[in-house]
Amino acid sequence: MKVAVIGCGTIANAAHIPSYMNNPKVEIKYFCDILPHKAQAAVEKYGCGTAITDYHVALNDPEIAAVSVCTPNNMHATIAIDAMRAGKDVLSEKPAARTYKEAEEMLKVQRETGRILNIGVVNRFNDNVNAIKRYIDSGKLGEVFHVYVSFRAHRSIPGLGGAFTTKAIAGGGALIDWGVHYLDIVMYCLGDPKPVTVTGEAFCKLGKDMKNYVYRSMWAEDTKDLNGTYDVDDSVTGMIRTEGPVITFNGAWAQNINESETYIDFMGDKGGIRLTYGSTFKVYTAENGTLVEYVPEVKSRDHFQNEIDAFVNDIETREKLPSHIETVIVTAKMMQAIYDSAEAHREIVL
Ligand SMILES: NC(=O)c1ccc[n+]([C@@H]2O[C@H](COP(=O)([O-])OP(=O)(O)OC[C@H]3O[C@@H](n4cnc5c(N)ncnc54)[C@H](O)[C@@H]3O)[C@@H](O)[C@H]2O)c1
Repeated sequence: MKVAVIGCGTIANAAHIPSYMNNPKVEIKYFCDILPHKAQAAVEKYGCGTAITDYHVALNDPEIAAVSVCTPNNMHATIAIDAMRAGKDVLSEKPAARTYKEAEEMLKVQRETGRILNIGVVNRFNDNVNAIKRYIDSGKLGEVFHVYVSFRAHRSIPGLGGAFTTKAIAGGGALIDWGVHYLDIVMYCLGDPKPVTVTGEAFCKLGKDMKNYVYRSMWAEDTKDLNGTYDVDDSVTGMIRTEGPVITFNGAWAQNINESETYIDFMGDKGGIRLTYGSTFKVYTAENGTLVEYVPEVKSRDHFQNEIDAFVNDIETREKLPSHIETVIVTAKMMQAIYDSAEAHREIVL
């Protein structure tokens, strides 16, 4: 099975390409990047494929079955739609798109073409997250009535002035970049309950004065362009009422508190779970009249490998994976409502 990787930056090199390379069913035929040196570097590093700068070359090749879209957010919808219309199956990175409207267009074309469109909500393939889902489904936490989400870091804005901090490219900041993963984990573990109302506030404060911003870390590949743009949320807060539990959240790429608090608390009437993001989780409950807490042992495999293997398998089986656009689009809807609520300073009824 031949595939193309479109966008050869951080996530392509950290996850998609090595995971495809580990899958014996797949051959990467094209590495595509608008920057020719990045596509060429991948060809040399992985010892296969052809470097291209225009993704249409891959879409016009009948040998290509599927593509990974690993570009900045502004190109997700365009490339995924072009690829599906060219008869290719697609795994497109998170967030689905910059806006809910773009995500709806992606879903529409997915339905029209019948191609696979999975979004890179990789935590749905994380073994610890799946173990939490099983705990909740089995009723061990009782009624889960509140989930608290924290994705807060101390002065850690990515690529100041670049693609991540430019709304026209990224669609938003801390919420759309980090929050998307957290909200997606919550929705997945809760069985995707329908959101009912959303209230949010988003702040663009710490990175605004780019020249004087002092930071702890600045991740992202093409870091720092102080003549660029900074017009996204560096912190966000809010509440989502669903037909099931209430979700409250605080997120920050940057805050003036020197703590990184990245976890999700699932609070049930019989027990609770704290998932430390990207790591293990702890269960809190009472058994035989005693308070107990424990970290379950979960055999875990790299979640990106799980995600890519599931996608490759899906190209053959054509089953609907949990990362299907039809399922995960609700997160795009919630994030849009958070941004809309923040702009209007009032609650949005969905
Ligand atoms: N799943 C995850 O945990 C995770 C982690 C990091 C990034 N991401 C997502 O992956 C995407 C890429 O992020 P990144 O950190 O790898 O960014 P990056 O800037 O490191 O890489 C993006 C690459 O895409 C290229 N590109 C831009 N437009 C293109 C086009 N039209 N055709 C071909 N190539 C193009 C750029 O030149 C760049 O090399 C983002 O949407 C981001 O949200 C997901």
